[in-house]
Order: sequence, then structure tokens, then C-alpha cells
Amino acid sequence: MSLYQVYAQYPIELVSAKGMELTDSNGVKYTDYYGGHAVISIGHSHPHYVKSLTEQLEQIGFYSNVVLNRFQEELAERLNAKLNEDYALFLCNSGAEANENALKLASFKTGRKKVLAFKGSFHGRTSAVVAATDNPSIVAPLNAGHEVDFIPFGDHKQLEQLLATEQYCTVIVETIQGVGGLDQPSLDFASEINEQCKNTGTLLIADEVQSGFGRSGSFFSFQRFDLEPDFITMAKGMGNGFPVGGVLIHEKHEAVKSELGTTFGGNYLACRAALAVLDVLEDEDLIANARDLESHFRAEVDRLGIEAKIKGAGLMIGLDFGKPTAALRKTLLEESHLFVGSSSNPNVVRILPPLNCTKEALSTLLSEIKRLS
Ligand SMILES: Cc1ncc(COP(=O)(O)O)c(C=O)c1O
Repeated sequence: MSLYQVYAQYPIELVSAKGMELTDSNGVKYTDYYGGHAVISIGHSHPHYVKSLTEQLEQIGFYSNVVLNRFQEELAERLNAKLNEDYALFLCNSGAEANENALKLASFKTGRKKVLAFKGSFHGRTSAVVAATDNPSIVAPLNAGHEVDFIPFGDHKQLEQLLATEQYCTVIVETIQGVGGLDQPSLDFASEINEQCKNTGTLLIADEVQSGFGRSGSFFSFQRFDLEPDFITMAKGMGNGFPVGGVLIHEKHEAVKSELGTTFGGNYLACRAALAVLDVLEDEDLIANARDLESHFRAEVDRLGIEAKIKGAGLMIGLDFGKPTAALRKTLLEESHLFVGSSSNPNVVRILPPLNCTKEALSTLLSEIKRLS
């Protein structure tokens, strides 16, 4: 019996990685502008990250949430320092799990069942979140029982009409869609989401699984839109590859014993990984770097005359060529040895490098894209 083959894979076996450099089993070196789905936030095997995890493993690797864990407290405090209001932290292991827990909380707290999501959304593959993901091909009959409506960004009328029924427990939004292809709501529409949620007792979930931890050029992407979410979900860049996710829950929502729970979530290694990521983001000023590199990216696309529309923000950025890009991505990988990301919009190339990427590295990528496109 072999593996259950659900992934379309490149025939590449990676054996080591450092910073943005990946090395395969034949000694071929690649540059990583993709971070394995926007996961690598501070670069592969960053020395501080390796030291923190190694040190922790030598002390204690795991115990369950039946005992206190001071690293969880420290993480909650460090995350609150990034926010204007107080949020409590619940830790889990992945993005889907973070969103699933946020949806469950929204339903517990409101007593309602319906969910409002957006066209192009991706929130994960577990039961309620896959139902809130705009991709029927990954929704099994079992998941399809959830009551979810999808509206496009910018549809003020439907937003207002649907929420006015006061049947929706939540609106779940990615303020930059990741898998969907880097679309963002307008400032105006985002503010309308905020207002309508407040007016109708609907709770707001900011899905920051991909855009959080500095990737958009702000610590959380929703902060660029002045949203006031009830729940903020995160994963991916949070652990730089160590599986960790979390939900930040606004202080107005009180915890009830046993309403959520997990065995592995918030374990020592996961916390130390997330704390090490925060240390490096702060010490190396990487969020400012993400903003600078966005400006550099825009200037270089213009200077090189690349005929594509720029989408996204910070280092969650990409190019929409208005025509399929699969061949371009394949050549970039096979000939130029550069990893970039795809999206469910076949015309979009996503660029998601570590936040300590450099101007030179971005220019190298864009010159190759210009040469090959
Ligand atoms: C915005 C967003 N939410 C949720 C998820 C699901 O995260 P995970 O794959 O860790 O379950 C993803 C994964 O791509 C994502 O991009």
C-alpha cells in the first residue's frame, strides 16, 4: 500500500533549507518565493528559531492542557500588544481548526446557525469551514448541511439584506484572499461589513491564517481596514513551519469551561515556535521590510514593463497576467529553480517569500518573470 495520493506533486525531494534557499536530494538549489503556502515567515531554519525549539525539546516537549503552560500566557500577552483591544487566546494546530473553532464560538455566543462568507474564499477543509469555502469540489455531502451564503466583495445590498434577517451567527472574511487569488474588499465595503455586523448582532471573524503575522505589511491584515473582529484566526506564518494555530477572542465574549478543547494545541514546542517568530519579526523589523518590499515590487514591475496587474499587499503579493500562468510557474521552477505560488485563479502567480526577503531577491524573481512571460 502506498500513500493516499491527493496532492499534485513536483518530483523534487528537499533535504535542507536555510533562509530562502532550498536544496534537493541531487544538490540542486532553489529559491523560495512561496514558503510552502505562505508558512515560512522568518526564513527556513532561522538560528533563533532553531535554538528556541532545541532548547525547549531538551526541557519538555509536550504535556496536555490539563496543566498550566506559561508560554501560552506569554504568547497571549505578546499578541495583545499588537492589538488595540483585549483578546483572549485559544491555541490549536492548524488554520482550519482555528476557523472551525471561531465558527463554533460565533454560533455558541449568538445561538444562530447561518454563516455569511465571500466568493473566492478559502477557510480550510474541516466540516464547517469547508462549507464556508467557495469551492464545491471539496465539499462532501456530509459538510454541505451547513447553512452558508456567499456574496461577492462589494455587494452592499446583499450584505445588508442578509444580515438584516438576524439569522447569521457570523461573517467570515479574508481581507486579502489567499487561495482565491489576492482579492481584497474596498475600504468602504470593509467598513460596511463592520457596521452591519454591529447593527445586527452578527459576530465578525477575520481569517488571518494566511495574511497574519506581518505578511500583509501590518501585523494583521484586517488592521489595514479598521475592522473590529470578534475573532481573529491565525496559523501558517505563526509557527514558521511548526504546526500551530490560534483564535483570538474579543474580551467581551466570556469563556465557558469545555466549550472548546484540544489535545495538542498550545503545546510547549508550538508556543516556543510562535514566540521565536515574534522575536524575529520584532528584532529584525520584518513587517516594515514587508512594506518596503511591496513598494520595491511595484516599482520593479513598472521598471521592467511586466504586463500584469499587481494584486495583494506586503509580501502576500502577486501578478495577474489575464491568461493562464501554469506554464510560466513550471518553467520558473524547472529551469530557473524558483518556487512561486499558484491560486484558484489560474491567471495569478502568488509571491509569498519569507518576510526577511531582500530587494535583490525580488528583483531576481521579477527579471526572470519578465524574461519568461
Ligand atoms: C485564509 C486561509 N484560511 C484557512 C486555511 C486553512 O489552513 P490549514 O491548511 O492550516 O488548515 C488556509 C490555508 O491555505 C488559508 O489560506
